[in-house]
Amino acid sequence: METKRVVIQDIQAPKDEELLEAAKLLAGNGLVAFPTETVYGLGANALDEAAAKKIYAAKGRPSDNPLIAHVARMEDVDVLVKEIPQAGRKLMETFWPGPLTLVFPKSECVPYGTTGGLDTVAVRMPSHPVAKRLIELAGVPVAAPSANLSGRPSPTTAEHVMQDMNGRIDMVVDGGAVNIGVESTIVDVSGDVPMLLRPGAVTIEMLQEVLGKVEIDPVILGPVQDGRKPKAPGMKYRHYAPKAQMTLVEGADLEEMSGKLRALAAEKIQQGYQVGIICTEETRAKYPEGIVRSIGTRGEEDTIAHNLFAVLREFDDCGVTYIFSETFPKDHLGQAIMNRLCKAAGYRIV
Ligand code: TXA
Ligand code: MG
Repeated sequence: METKRVVIQDIQAPKDEELLEAAKLLAGNGLVAFPTETVYGLGANALDEAAAKKIYAAKGRPSDNPLIAHVARMEDVDVLVKEIPQAGRKLMETFWPGPLTLVFPKSECVPYGTTGGLDTVAVRMPSHPVAKRLIELAGVPVAAPSANLSGRPSPTTAEHVMQDMNGRIDMVVDGGAVNIGVESTIVDVSGDVPMLLRPGAVTIEMLQEVLGKVEIDPVILGPVQDGRKPKAPGMKYRHYAPKAQMTLVEGADLEEMSGKLRALAAEKIQQGYQVGIICTEETRAKYPEGIVRSIGTRGEEDTIAHNLFAVLREFDDCGVTYIFSETFPKDHLGQAIMNRLCKAAGYRIV
């Protein structure tokens, strides 16, 4: 299969002519990758079980890992869900369109092939102008996991998508680099108390402001304990995994953190290994050797989130054997950053 690439000229105002072929593919049973404000998604008709199967095959993803259905308008949620609980309604009104996915009790018309056999369905209304218009033109809810091969970091550019999906899908809609760079926040509103299943750009602090009480799935910041099942099935996989062995380095302050990291890196470099270092503008000068990448300024967490997956991919591509990364505070957007880093590192923290 040849993967066609369609470049959108003005991502703030995409033209219908640019999106019509992609929309037709989605309404049929084609596979189309497209930009959202979080990461690129790999879309197919969410109401068509056969299309969902094709997504799992293209990604090499286990089929018990459910997909998020993307909609273009609030009212498009109604056919997908049995009911919209009060907490869900409030969150939709506050954060949609945007980087927030809500888990609802599913309606009859959502196939179990899309929900990994669950009686709930995850729904999100993206704010990206290209995603919004594309879903609208397709006229169906669009199931879309991140458009990476299973186990690879989520793609934040069309180039990343092509690296993983070229020849496996019908089309990539190229809208340049995404804005946020980590996947959406997921909140389950199907139970009595809303529960955060995956941290993202809508932070726990923002959710609490709207809802008061929000529970947090304990798997978010720690390894999955024996017998404890993450509520979002996808969180049990070692996602976002670079090929290198990755270690996160903590320290009482930046001085101590960078000192420890420099010593750990030096040891591996001396043994002849290629070593990647993930640091920040504040500490870049502390690392005289290794492949050193700053992912932003500590004061600007959104830049750090934006650059994170691209750096992990870069290290994969240049074949480093060990990666050492600095760590970040775990509040606000830092919770999502540390969640992705911890998973990439398989919770190896020193
Ligand atoms: O930002 C995002 O959410 C991106 C863009 C493309 O929208 N999509 C994305 O999809 O990250 P994916 O498939 O890579 O991650 C979806 C996560 C998985 O961890 C999955 O287990 C969870 O959502 N999920 C989906 N349906 C669920 C459900 N009914 N109950 C609990 N978790 C669910
Ligand atoms: Mg994913």
